[in-house]
Amino acid sequence: MLSGDCYSDGSLMKTHSIEEKLLKCKCSCVFLFIFVSWLKLYSAQWERRGISNTGKAPIDSTKTPIVWILGGPGSGKGTQCDKIIAKYGFTHLSTGDLLRAEVQSGSDRAKTLTAIMERGELVPNDVVLDLLKEAMVAKADKAKGFLIDGYPREKSQGEAFESAIAPVTVIIYFEASSETLTKRLLGRALSSGRADDNEETIKLRLKTFLDNNDQVLAQYPNKLKRINAEDTVDSIFSQVEQILDPLVTK
Ligand code: AP5
Repeated sequence: MLSGDCYSDGSLMKTHSIEEKLLKCKCSCVFLFIFVSWLKLYSAQWERRGISNTGKAPIDSTKTPIVWILGGPGSGKGTQCDKIIAKYGFTHLSTGDLLRAEVQSGSDRAKTLTAIMERGELVPNDVVLDLLKEAMVAKADKAKGFLIDGYPREKSQGEAFESAIAPVTVIIYFEASSETLTKRLLGRALSSGRADDNEETIKLRLKTFLDNNDQVLAQYPNKLKRINAEDTVDSIFSQVEQILDPLVTK
């Protein structure tokens, strides 16, 4: 029998069910094909970004030191990083700069990021870590050391960094009073053109910093180096040198 139409009993049903099975099989094959193609594209994208399937960035901090530069808004992180780059040639990655560049790029998430930064709040961790990881991987071949400026700002950021990238080598923390920080930022506001350098946002940035800072620092008692950032730029830098010199001469 060529067609099931001749019968009204079980054999007609059987013919239909074979057709149904064939159809289901075809659908599964198409679905499998789409899934495998998507998986290939996804892996290729991550490989292009230099990130392995295990999610780990190819950076060895026993050979290329990773230095976290921490401190409140206006504590002098950027100022000291400029001096560190000049002397040690380290690769400087400021999460604030990376985020401002992302905002400038006009990407889909730019508007959301601008709003968060203008409220003095923290941008979601995955956004910051993605930007940081991508920038580090891109420079991993030539970097003599990494200066990670303004990261981590909360406990979970530090944990995420170390599991996704590499353990931190040393943490330099610039300590200054809220009064000093506010005064410096208001001074910088006269020329910086930064949307978050205004009295209202400075207060919010300080609050965000104070809410999280102790918890961040408490995680790393053995790697943390505190520096009094009320001092002059040069005297602060000479303390920074005492911390970094041993890293580059070992
Ligand atoms: P970011 O750009 O990192 O800003 P910040 O932490 O508020 O720090 P600043 O860049 O304003 O100050 P600085 O410590 O570098 O001081 P500077 O050297 O310029 O972050 C901006 C925003 O991005 C955040 O609010 C958040 O929304 C988001 N973000 C960033 N990182 C994030 C993260 N990890 N997770 C989530 N969100 C994140 O100095 C300030 C002024 O003081 C200058 O005028 C300078 O000349 C002067 N000065 C410096 N040192 C001295 C000194 N010793 N004596 C006198 N004056 C001094």
